[in-house]
Amino acid sequence: MDGNGRWAKKRFMPRVFGHKQGVDALVRTVKACADRGIEYLTVFAFSSENWKRPEDEVSGLMGLVLVAVSKYLTKLASEGVRIRIVGDRSAVSEKVRAAWNEAERATAHNHRITLSVAFNYGGRWDVVQACRRAIEAGLSAEQLDEARLGQFMALSHAPDPDLFIRTGGEVRISNFLLWQVAYSELYFTDCLWPEFGAAELDAALATFARRDRRFGGVKTEEAAGQAA
Ligand code: IPE
Ligand code: MG
Repeated sequence: MDGNGRWAKKRFMPRVFGHKQGVDALVRTVKACADRGIEYLTVFAFSSENWKRPEDEVSGLMGLVLVAVSKYLTKLASEGVRIRIVGDRSAVSEKVRAAWNEAERATAHNHRITLSVAFNYGGRWDVVQACRRAIEAGLSAEQLDEARLGQFMALSHAPDPDLFIRTGGEVRISNFLLWQVAYSELYFTDCLWPEFGAAELDAALATFARRDRRFGGVKTEEAAGQAA
């Protein structure tokens, strides 16, 4: 969800104002995904590296978590959204942790769409924590394979993403889902996150529908031809 700061700057507003609008864009997008039958949406809200930002922006983002949960939790819960938080919770404040726990608890029974919010998350952090937990569980080197390690990843509750969208014009992954994007279709748009919504989602889905996914194999017609 990139581009909040630039969106605000264009309007001569503080960056945190852009993040606030970003929360509204997220709520809109969750609804648009659910309406289209998308069952899993995972968003990058705060990266392990975002602590490097100025203190007032970091505290603004943390405060926004509390505001967002109190403002939108009831609405999301009633729309069938299940919220899951992925990331290192040990470093966030007691208040933020409590808000996340409440969001998960209040939506645990929902299954229309699972919204995974990556918060204090990094793709490399996830690989390392999965390895650590696999070792702690006593797995031997021989027992460890891709499926087994996948069970220890923070997103083990969700299938690998079909489509990876980055807003804000940068063309990089920036330590988001590294393990899970092996065969995801990547989509980059200049749209700044506060402006994202149903129309931009549909544009991304239309592009996705034209992609030819082979997962390292050959086209289905070619495979059918070979079989014939
Ligand atoms: C939001 O966009 C991403 C977050 C970490 C919350 P940015 O804050 O990176 O906005 P830009 O890239 O400066 O415009
Ligand atoms: Mg950015």
